[in-house]
Formats: sequence, structure tokens, C-alpha cells
Amino acid sequence: MQLEGRKVIVVGAGSGIGRGVAIAASEAGAHVVLAGRKRETLEATSELMKGPLEVRVLDASVEAEVAAFCEAVGPFDHLVSTVSQGVAGPLTGLGFASIERAFAAKLWAPIYLVKHASSRISPDGSFTFFSGFRAWKPAVGTSITSLVNGGLEAFTKAMAVELAPVRLNAISPGVVDSGSFWDRLGAEARERLFADYANKAPARRVGTTADLAAATLFAMTNPFLTGTVLSVDGGAVLM
Ligand SMILES: NC(=O)c1ccc[n+]([C@@H]2O[C@H](COP(=O)([O-])OP(=O)(O)OC[C@H]3O[C@@H](n4cnc5c(N)ncnc54)[C@H](OP(=O)(O)O)[C@@H]3O)[C@@H](O)[C@H]2O)c1
Repeated sequence: MQLEGRKVIVVGAGSGIGRGVAIAASEAGAHVVLAGRKRETLEATSELMKGPLEVRVLDASVEAEVAAFCEAVGPFDHLVSTVSQGVAGPLTGLGFASIERAFAAKLWAPIYLVKHASSRISPDGSFTFFSGFRAWKPAVGTSITSLVNGGLEAFTKAMAVELAPVRLNAISPGVVDSGSFWDRLGAEARERLFADYANKAPARRVGTTADLAAATLFAMTNPFLTGTVLSVDGGAVLM
């Protein structure tokens, strides 16, 4: 199965892995719909692409916006969502608003996207959602990240059963140098994290957006891959 002439929606296309996926899908010949909350970052992604594309501003955590977005985009073949809102720290210190943002990005947004887009996806199409390694490797301060990533993986599997033959998969990245994702740590702590990960992971490096984009294209185009969580983490499970 190829992406030439297929319509691919990327929610989160304005940065990091989503930007990498949008560019790779475009290079593979897809018509790409770039979605996210900030027009300027989506337009910056569009400038790195040559093929047919649409830029659509979308807050995927608002159901009415997702419904209108799906109506406007119409029939499509594949949808990828990298939507994420970071929340870190011991549970007792977390404000409810930050917990709610993390739920909205990793749980409500995928639910709304599947609910409103599934009647418009082609039968050989796919949804690919991004979870993360904290689902299976928690640390102090990751309770909500672990919860939403694990929940997203369970939802993806359940919907792969419910929507078959449409395929749904989750990709679980390890530590990826994707731009701003780790900025909240500050430069020094980020470099320490990257060095520690590279030292321990069997791949001996952190991931790149190209690694994750290649895995996403594989998930989109392999017709026998569904209901699975693809760990793309340099072997972190063995650390
Ligand atoms: N990078 C890593 O090391 C790593 C590790 C484990 C898991 N992951 C997961 O991999 C995925 C991609 O990560 P990344 O590094 O590319 O992160 P990123 O650059 O922060 O990408 C997240 C994207 O989601 C968009 N977004 C956030 N809330 C949204 C909303 N309500 N509606 C629409 N778009 C929204 C953001 O754009 P706007 O703010 O402009 O909307 C942004 O483009 C995420 O799900 C992340 O949790 C990454």
C-alpha cells in the first residue's frame, strides 16, 4: 500500500515528530492536511513541503472543533495524531488544570478524532496515535503521563477491534530529540537526559524525528498491522 495520492491528516503537524511525519508523507506523494492550534507553526511546516497540502487550525481537545474539522476535510485515508500536553511532578503537587490538559490531549482528542472521522475514513485507512515509553516505564513524577499514554494504548486496541477493517495503531517513542518537547527541563537537564539515554539504550543514541516518521509511514502503509503498540525507542525496554 502506497501513500501516492492518498489524503493524510497530521494533527500536531506544527512541530517535532508531527512535522517530520507530514514532510515524509508529502515526500511519499500524499495530500497532507496539517492540523494544530497555531497557524504560524503549521505554515512553517508547509514551507518545508512541496506536494498538495491544506493548513487547518484545530484544537483537537474541543469536540465541536473536531466535528467541524472532519466535516471540512471530508473523505480521507490516514490520520496521525501526535497531540500532547506535558505534565510532570509528584501527584500531590499537580494542579487539576494541568492534569486536565494532559487528559484532553492524549485521551479526549483521540476519542473526538475517532468519533468524528471514522465515518469518513477509507476502509483500508488507518489511525496512528502517539503514546510514549512512560506507559510501561514509570518514574517518580510521571503518574499522569503514564496514565494517559497507557489509556491511549488501550483505547487504540479497543477501537482496532470496533472499527475493523480500518486499522488503528499506537507508536510509543523513547526519548526523541524532536525540538521543543524536552525544553521544559532546561538545557542542562535535557542534555544530561539525552546523554544518559544514549549511554543506556542499545541503539546508543536518542531518537530523531526521521526515525519516528519512518515508523509512522510503516504503520500507515502495512495492511497487516493493527491493534498494536509499536515501540520505537532504541531498545529502551531492555535498559
Ligand atoms: N519527544 C519525545 O522524546 C517523546 C517521548 C515520548 C513520547 N512522545 C510523544 O510523541 C508525540 C510527539 O512528540 P513531539 O516530541 O513531537 O512533541 P511536540 O513537538 O510537543 O508535539 C505535540 C504537538 O501537539 C500539538 N497540540 C497540542 N495540543 C493540541 C491540541 N489541543 N490540538 C491540536 N494540536 C495540539 C502541538 O501544537 P500546538 O501547540 O501548536 O497545537 C504540537 O505540535 C507526543 O504525543 C509525545 O507525548 C514524545
